[in-house]
Amino acid sequence: MKKKLQEIFEWFHRNPELSYEEYRTTQQIRRILEEAGVEILPLSLETGLVAVIRGKKEGPVQALRCDIDALPILEESGLSYASETPGRMHACGHDFHITAGIGAALRLQERREELAGTVKILFQPGEESSLGALKLLETDVCDDVERFWGLHADPTNEAGVIGLRPGYVSAAVDRFLITIKGIGCHGAHPDDGADPIPAACAVVQALQTIVTRNVNAFHPALISVTRIEAGNTWNVIPETAELEGTVRTMDRADRKLFEEKLSLIAERTAQAYGAQAQVQWIPGPPAVVNDEKMAEYAADVARRLGFVVVPEEQSLGGDDFSFYEEKAPGCYIKIGTGKGQLIHQPGFAVDESVLEPTAVYLTEVLMGD
Ligand code: NI
Repeated sequence: MKKKLQEIFEWFHRNPELSYEEYRTTQQIRRILEEAGVEILPLSLETGLVAVIRGKKEGPVQALRCDIDALPILEESGLSYASETPGRMHACGHDFHITAGIGAALRLQERREELAGTVKILFQPGEESSLGALKLLETDVCDDVERFWGLHADPTNEAGVIGLRPGYVSAAVDRFLITIKGIGCHGAHPDDGADPIPAACAVVQALQTIVTRNVNAFHPALISVTRIEAGNTWNVIPETAELEGTVRTMDRADRKLFEEKLSLIAERTAQAYGAQAQVQWIPGPPAVVNDEKMAEYAADVARRLGFVVVPEEQSLGGDDFSFYEEKAPGCYIKIGTGKGQLIHQPGFAVDESVLEPTAVYLTEVLMGD
């Protein structure tokens, strides 16, 4: 099994594909699973695949989500099996997630006699787009799922160390776009117009007070203005200024608060400067919240198998895994893949010694008690 998983992993690492372009990836997963006689469900998506293992004993329907897409990054890992497509790289460990999912599927298939319930392995496209989970949820393959499991490579922990905690583990990811419209004029005669630039600066400053003055100080939350654009020369006051950025929250009420306050601050501040603000709020996935019982159970299984279990690092990053949790309870497990460069960096690499133990661990989690 160890050698087989290594080969599987190397193939996926060498062949990264971007969100919704995972055609060869999907084909390869299908080939490996079909060879082992694993049932594959019909799916009305161009990429991605859902495998099902039907146990011979009574039990719940569970799902394991494995995301399959890669990133537009030029790999600098120095691995012998580095990406064969320049500018494409599995820099978020999704090749590891695929391999672990295949490993679990193969083992569960062999142990169907003892398996209590049904396990669906969701090879999900487009996680990096934040919306791949929704595409899968729009089909009917998840309708009967009672528990969702997710995993993620964690380069901040030694190989095989398992991070788990009940409650919030990653943030709701929202995006905003603010257009401030003033009145353009000569740079020497600002009194003839309404300069959107000081208005935009004031908005940027004021937005930070949502974090420091409105949100409970014990709640993780942040707002980042990541793009500001106005004007095109030195002696003309432009008509508009544009701001763009992201809001990250864990708490549902905080998320709502940000959406409301952001509009209010942008609109009223711009108004005070003689300009007008238009705000677009573009919601992304909600926060990932681990079900307490599932997290506890997963930690017990890990300890029983001899893994070191540590409190899972919380992050204001996001994962579209949270969309599944709107349907049924879920638990998102971080698997230490050896300390090194962080995810989404060109030198990110997974310590291969975790491949087989992760497949064994996920199998045990899914076998039920
Ligand atoms: Ni990822």
